[in-house]
Amino acid sequence: MGPIIVGVNTIQELKKSYRTPETPGSFFFSLEGIEGSGKTTQIKALEDYVTSKGLRCLTLREPGGTTFGEKLREAILGSEAPLHPLAECHLFLASRAQLLNEKILPFLLQPGSVVILDRYIDSTLAYQGKARRLGYSTILELHRHDPLNLLPHRTYFLDIDLETSMQRQLTRGNKKDYFESQKQEFYQNLLDGYREVAELFPERILKIDGSGTVASITEKIHHDLKRLLS
Ligand code: TYD
Repeated sequence: MGPIIVGVNTIQELKKSYRTPETPGSFFFSLEGIEGSGKTTQIKALEDYVTSKGLRCLTLREPGGTTFGEKLREAILGSEAPLHPLAECHLFLASRAQLLNEKILPFLLQPGSVVILDRYIDSTLAYQGKARRLGYSTILELHRHDPLNLLPHRTYFLDIDLETSMQRQLTRGNKKDYFESQKQEFYQNLLDGYREVAELFPERILKIDGSGTVASITEKIHHDLKRLLS
């Protein structure tokens, strides 16, 4: 926790540069977690919930979600050369800026709209900020400018331990991509990063134990949504 405490004032200052969407009745949500945390399943449940309330819903993933962003996704995740952390970081941010400008911001302009994002700024804080060692304040600094300074109303962080993550990845048996080939230490830092980031943004990030049953996690998200949407 040392480096975070040292940086808290800077981080509190940086947080002032951020905003949340202001269209009445429109909401912006993101889901976060390490590989195998169950984001995909919960995103589906979240979509079902908001559409059952009569809201229009757009679900997107990062990196990607636009034609240009999908090219960047391929460039990053398909990269055979190890990328410099700053190069990596800027590629994710390029994809994000394009996604915000082309899809997220226009969609949220209409009242009663919901955007659900599979990964967003907290992935950059945990992966590039912590695991790649760029530091949280560097990442927050880079997001100060419009349109990158848009924060979700709520982020659901599905917290699982490393053993569960490894076990679930083995069961899936997919070919490992760029990040999935990293060493154990990277994953430990990543998980520590996510947990620290949840503490940096307690008003926005809801940490949920992702090792529970699918139904119990969905129930926690629904409970929170009921309050937020009312
Ligand atoms: P993806 O296959 O979408 O991962 P998952 O299915 O686990 O969501 O690949 C996205 C990868 O990119 C994932 O390993 C996390 C990483 N990533 C970053 O490192 N920084 C970022 O800012 C984002 C958005 C993703």
